[in-house]
This record gives sequence, C-alpha cells and structure tokens, in this order.
Amino acid sequence: MKRILTGLQPTGKLTLGNLIGGINQIKKYQNEFDSFIFVPDMHSITIEQNPIELRKNIISTIALYLACGIDKDKNTFYIQSENLYHANLSWILECNVGFGQLSRMTQFKDKSQKKINVTCGLFTYPVLMAADILLYSANFVPTGIDQKQHVELARDIAECFNKKYGNTFVVPEPIIPQLGAKIMDLQNPLIKMSKSAENEKGVIYLLDTEDVIRKKVKSAVTDSDNKVCYDSENKPGVSNLLTIYACLNNLCIIDAEKHFENYQYGAFKSEVAESIINTLKPIQEKYYEILNSNLIEEVLKNGYSKVLEISKEKYNEVKNKVGLGRIDFIV
Ligand code: TYM
Repeated sequence: MKRILTGLQPTGKLTLGNLIGGINQIKKYQNEFDSFIFVPDMHSITIEQNPIELRKNIISTIALYLACGIDKDKNTFYIQSENLYHANLSWILECNVGFGQLSRMTQFKDKSQKKINVTCGLFTYPVLMAADILLYSANFVPTGIDQKQHVELARDIAECFNKKYGNTFVVPEPIIPQLGAKIMDLQNPLIKMSKSAENEKGVIYLLDTEDVIRKKVKSAVTDSDNKVCYDSENKPGVSNLLTIYACLNNLCIIDAEKHFENYQYGAFKSEVAESIINTLKPIQEKYYEILNSNLIEEVLKNGYSKVLEISKEKYNEVKNKVGLGRIDFIV
C-alpha cells in the first residue's frame, strides 16, 4: 500500500487554510493510503517560541487532527521531536545538499526578510522536512502550494542520494489540491492566510467562536463591484471567499458562482460565514471532548512504536551507506 504523509506546525493556532490545504487532504486519502500525520514541533523552534505555549499547541494539534476527522484507526500519529532519527537523518541530508539549493527556497527568503534574528534552523528547515518525508518512504505528500517547493527539494535530495549511494529513498510526490491550495488572508487577500499573521482579523482559526467568525467574514475586504464572481486578479477578496465556500461544500468554483449569482455582498458574506461555522462547530465540539479523554495518549503511544521501527531501519540503511559508525552497529 502506498504511503501518504503530512504535518502541520504547532506554531500558534491552526487556521482554515491549514484545514483546507493540509488536514482535509489527508482525510480525503486516508482510506486509500497508509496514512501518516505528525506534529513537526522541531520546525516550530526555527522561530522563537514560548515553551509552555509550544507544548500546549503540540497536544492541541493532535486533538484537532482527530476532531477534524483524521481517523485514529487509519492513521499513524506522532510527534517529530520524540523520534531522534528525524534530526539524525536531517544532518546526513544537510551534508548532501548545496547551500545554493537552500538559498533558493522562497519561504526562507520571505521569512528572513521579516525577521531580525534569522536562525540557521530557519535556513536548513527544508532539509529537516525532507528527512521527515524520506525517513518513512512516503510516496505522497499533501500540502498547500506554499510547501510545494520544499517537497520538490525533498525529491531532488532523494534522487541525488540514490544516484550517489544506490537506491535508498522513495522519491515523494506533492499532492496540491486543485482548489484551496492557498487560502488568502481576509483583510489582505493578496497574502496567504497564516497562523503568524500580524492582524488576526484576517485569519479564521479553527477554534474561533461563531460571533468572531461572523465578524471576521463580514469585515473581509472585497471590492465595490457587488457582483459575486471568481476573478482572482481583479477581485481577490471575493474569489477567496468563493474558494472557501466551494472547498467547504465540495463544489467546483463554477457551481459556487452559480449558487451566488443573484447575491449582494452582504448576503454572500453571511452565507460564507454560516458555512464556515457549520464546518467548524462539530470540530470544536469534538476537540474539547478529545482534549479531556485518553485518546491523544493512545494514538501517540501506538504511533510512536510504529514510526520508531520504520525509521530505525531506514536510518541505519542510510548511515551504513554513507559509512558512519561501525557497519554492524545498529543505532
Ligand atoms: P505549515 O504548518 O505552515 O502548514 C501546514 C499545512 O497547511 C497548509 N497551509 C495552507 N493551505 C492553504 N491555504 C493556506 N493559507 C495555508 N496555510 C498553510 C500548508 O501548505 C501545509 O500543508 N513545513 C511544513 C510542515 C512540515 C511538513 C513536513 C509537511 C514539516 N515537515 C513533512 C509535510 C511533510 C509547514 O510549515 O506547514
């Protein structure tokens, strides 16, 4: 059975963009593939974190995966930092990737321009992501468009390594949704909806209350045209709301446009807000139930032993191929 794998950073609160670009895709494919979903907490510390908040967010992220419908019996859940093979493999891969290759990563360029303290971890982060993927021989990696370049780097690293040391890694393929690969900020629909946005009004968090959601959607930036149709260049705000509606209701854009044909913006926004609320309310109810149960511990315990076995084997194969340590010494 082919394997699918993805992860969402526990940096702050998960957003509607994370749900549509990341979680919903795993949900879609979990019946078809051997499905792995993890919490890449080591990625989060590339930017300074409050340790208490970080730990809370790790657990909250697992609870949200489960609440969003990631099936505990069809998925393997784990926390990246609890398995040391990720960092070990990442180091070996770092020694097999060019500085120039990493310098071309657009996310690094964007993030480093905004930060004063740019850490080395922020620079090498895509290699850790490659290790996350290659350690488990994942065939497919579902993500939003922002992570596509990183998955492509993982492909390049795998191909290069295979050429140099013989067939070792599965070359992964990104799966980017046709619709909803980049949900935009409601206040500035020219930028991605992001956990780390400066203005929270532009971001729908999965745990936002009904009132907050209504307010945020009502104040979403649109245009003066008052015609609901998709035109991402000239009407980015409306196009974004249409995309959200279409994704949450499993519609194509044309059908979503048809649905809102005779709507004014006020009524259009109300219906989009209700649709978000209808999606998030059951998730929130389950989330709070799960947080107060043993389910998180149970899935992490099962996941840990499974991933340890798989990654130990792959890491030792790699370590032997590059000539580290003693050949008969299994770490
Ligand atoms: P992260 O935590 O930034 O985002 C998690 C997932 O959500 C998607 N996403 C979006 N999709 C649509 N619209 C948006 N506005 C939006 N914002 C985020 C992302 O594309 C992603 O799929 N480096 C990764 C985490 C990671 C990972 C991995 C993912 C670490 N190792 C291995 C896959 C495989 C990240 O920072 O995603």
